[in-house]
Amino acid sequence: MISFLYGTAWKENETERLTGLALEAGFRGIDTANQRRHYFEAGVGAAVARAIAGGPLKREDLFLQTKFTHVDGQDHRLPYDPKADAATQVHQSFASSLEHLQVDSIDSYVLHGPSQRRGLAAIDHETWSAMEGLHASGRARNLGISNVALHQLQELWEGARVRPSFVQNRCYAQLGWDREVRAFCRDNGIVYQGFSLLTANVKELQTPQFWRIVERTGRTPAQVVFRFAFQVGMLPLTGTTNAAHMREDLDIHDFELTGEEVEVIENVGVSD
Ligand SMILES: NC(=O)c1ccc[n+]([C@@H]2O[C@H](COP(=O)([O-])OP(=O)(O)OC[C@H]3O[C@@H](n4cnc5c(N)ncnc54)[C@H](OP(=O)(O)O)[C@@H]3O)[C@@H](O)[C@H]2O)c1
Repeated sequence: MISFLYGTAWKENETERLTGLALEAGFRGIDTANQRRHYFEAGVGAAVARAIAGGPLKREDLFLQTKFTHVDGQDHRLPYDPKADAATQVHQSFASSLEHLQVDSIDSYVLHGPSQRRGLAAIDHETWSAMEGLHASGRARNLGISNVALHQLQELWEGARVRPSFVQNRCYAQLGWDREVRAFCRDNGIVYQGFSLLTANVKELQTPQFWRIVERTGRTPAQVVFRFAFQVGMLPLTGTTNAAHMREDLDIHDFELTGEEVEVIENVGVSD
C-alpha cells in the first residue's frame, strides 16, 4: 500500500524532470489531473514511461491517480468538448488521460470537485455515474472525490453504486485538519488524502507547542507534519521541487510521535 503521494501541480515544463526525480527518490504514488491550467499530465506520463522503460520499475509498482475537472475549473485547454453531456466529457477526458499517462488503466480516478459548494448538482451525479462506468470496465480501479464537504460526501456515499475509495482535501489545522471528513472516511473505510499540509498551516507550524515536538524528535517540521499525517491514518501529498526534501519527506518511518504529541498537533490550530 502506498504511504505517500507525489503531487505534480504547478510544475509546468519541469513536470517530467521532477516526477522522474520523485520516482528516483522512492515515491510510488503519483497524483495529477487532466487540468492543463494547473497540471501538465503528459509530462507526468513521459516521466512514468521513461522510468518503466529504464527498469526495474514496472507499471504495477506504481499508483497513478488523475482527475476529471468540470469546465469551471479548466482554462481554454480543455480535454473534452465543453458542449458535450457530462458522460461524454468524462469519457473524452479519461481517454486523454490514458494517452497522456501512456497507460491502459488508472489506479484512482478522482472527481476534482463538486460543481457547487452546497450539495451535489445533477451534473455531479451524471459525472459520477460515468466514472462508475469506467470503474466497471476495469480501467479505473478506484474512484475518488476531492474538495468535498462532509454533507456532499455523505450524499455521494448514500447514492453511489460505486462508492469513493479516496477523498482528497486541503487540510487546515484551523479546522482540526478536516476532522469531520476524516472521521467519516475512517468510519467508512475511505482513504483520506491530505494536501497543503505545510502551506495551509504556516502559522500553526510556528507555535511553541509544535516546536517542542520538532525539538524533541530532532526532525524537521515537515517530517513531523507528515509523520503526524501517517499516524492519524492520512495519505499525505507533497509537491516538493527539491530532491533533498523528497528524501526527507519519505524518511518518516524511523521515529514516532507519542499519543500526547498527536493530540497536540490535532489541536494546534483549534485551541488558540
Ligand atoms: N485536489 C486539489 O484540488 C488539489 C489542490 C492543490 C494541490 N493538490 C495536490 O497536492 C499536491 C501538493 O500540493 P500542496 O498544496 O500540498 O503544496 P506543494 O505544492 O507541495 O507545496 C509545498 C511547499 O512546501 C515547501 N517545502 C519546504 N520544505 C518541504 C519539505 N521538506 N517537504 C515538502 N515541501 C516542503 C515546498 O518547497 P520546495 O519545493 O522548495 O520543497 C513547497 O513550497 C499538488 O501537487 C497536487 O498534486 C490537489
